[in-house]
Amino acid sequence: MERMRVVVGDITTLALDAIVNAANASLLGGGGVDGAIHRAAGPKLLEECRGLGGCPTGAAKLTRGYDLPARFVIHTVGPVWQGGKADEDALLASCYRRSLELAAGHGLTRIAFPAISTGIYGFPAERAAPIAVRTVAEVLAHDRLFGEILFCCFSEPSAELHRRSLRSLSADDRPLN
Ligand code: APR
Repeated sequence: MERMRVVVGDITTLALDAIVNAANASLLGGGGVDGAIHRAAGPKLLEECRGLGGCPTGAAKLTRGYDLPARFVIHTVGPVWQGGKADEDALLASCYRRSLELAAGHGLTRIAFPAISTGIYGFPAERAAPIAVRTVAEVLAHDRLFGEILFCCFSEPSAELHRRSLRSLSADDRPLN
């Protein structure tokens, strides 16, 4: 699990292979981290996004990073929280899994995720963090390619939820005896 790390900060400042954007289905920008990424990347990002034809919930699409320090942006669309009976957990897991699959396909090994869906989309943060950490851990278990996966949280409470999920993950891994 050493390849996963939790940091508190602004994901637009990270100079990695790719940062993940919590976008909406139009991919034409918005508020939250989507707005921050578009502001930092500059207008060329929106220009490229316009040509992508949107993105379904749970899927991911790649663009360049333009004025961002990150080389690429992986745009994924998280589920809007509807009470937990509309497949939200599986769709959120899909965002992390498909983003990593896309990264692997392009040889991108150092990636940062925001806490997808836990802002405007209302997904409970304490429910989202274990899904995020477990899904990334499952991919890393089968794929030695990745260098480092950062959970870039925008607040200390969000970071603590991710750290707690990481700790319980390694606790599960410990041999029983
Ligand atoms: N860096 C890292 N994390 C950030 C940043 C930032 N600069 N700005 C916000 N966040 C965090 C939020 O605090 C939250 O924990 O990203 C997480 C996701 O929140 P949102 O950005 O609101 O995204 P989401 O809940 O997935 O809602 C997506 O919001 O911005 C619109 O266009 C977007 O319609 C889409 C919706």
